[in-house]
Amino acid sequence: MRIGDSIRMLETCSSTNDIANELALQGEPEGTVVLAEEQTKGRGTKGRDWFSPRGKGLYASVILRPLKRDMSLLPLAAGVAVREALLGVFGLFTRLRWPNDVLYGREKIGGILCEGSFLGNRVSHMILGIGVNLNQTRREFPREFRKDAVSVRMALGKTVSRDRLLPLLWDELDIWYREFLRGREARIVAAFEDRSVFSPGDTLEVSLGERAITGAYSGIDERGRLVLQSGGRTRALLAAEVSGVKILHKEG
Ligand code: BTN
Repeated sequence: MRIGDSIRMLETCSSTNDIANELALQGEPEGTVVLAEEQTKGRGTKGRDWFSPRGKGLYASVILRPLKRDMSLLPLAAGVAVREALLGVFGLFTRLRWPNDVLYGREKIGGILCEGSFLGNRVSHMILGIGVNLNQTRREFPREFRKDAVSVRMALGKTVSRDRLLPLLWDELDIWYREFLRGREARIVAAFEDRSVFSPGDTLEVSLGERAITGAYSGIDERGRLVLQSGGRTRALLAAEVSGVKILHKEG
């Protein structure tokens, strides 16, 4: 089954990731999507909330059952897919901020929340959650999101249809998921780097919980880690250990 061949539509739910996870545990096949009009407890990464008002955004979660060990490139592949769908359907140019943000200019328009379920050290399923701000106005964003959130409507100056985005989104997700399954790490990394807000040489400040390090961005490696030149050495940072990345200086 391809991604999006089976869609469970919900009026409301806590989080589509939670519903998809329950369905996966009950044996729902790979490729099934849970799509909601609103979420009452939409989640972002690092324990943040995801603002999910009724009828204003895309809130979707895909059930995946990849027979692989390392999942670190999956959110990156999904980011590329979301970016391509926004470009193809709305003509909107967005960029990716490692590891799972979709940005329009400097503001966040979408994000990926990839959560896994394990049996021992094997992945039994992954839930790929995708959120895109579509029709919110600036005033509709709660104060804490307002200064760095944007919607497609704010970017284009007109309301847009979520349902028009869906067919290409499923196709792109399917394409990039298959690349991931086939072990095309280099292609995924190259596609991500190509669409990244970071350019080689940019000075980044990376927060690692309590402390931060500064260094020159040199790319993403084949395990999806952010590679920095810092204090005379090369550092490869896992998404799980990083709580935020800021560009201090843009190269060129
Ligand atoms: C992030 O950038 O922090 C990730 C945001 C992910 C939001 C989506 S909306 C659909 C799915 N359900 C959730 O609760 N979160 C993801």
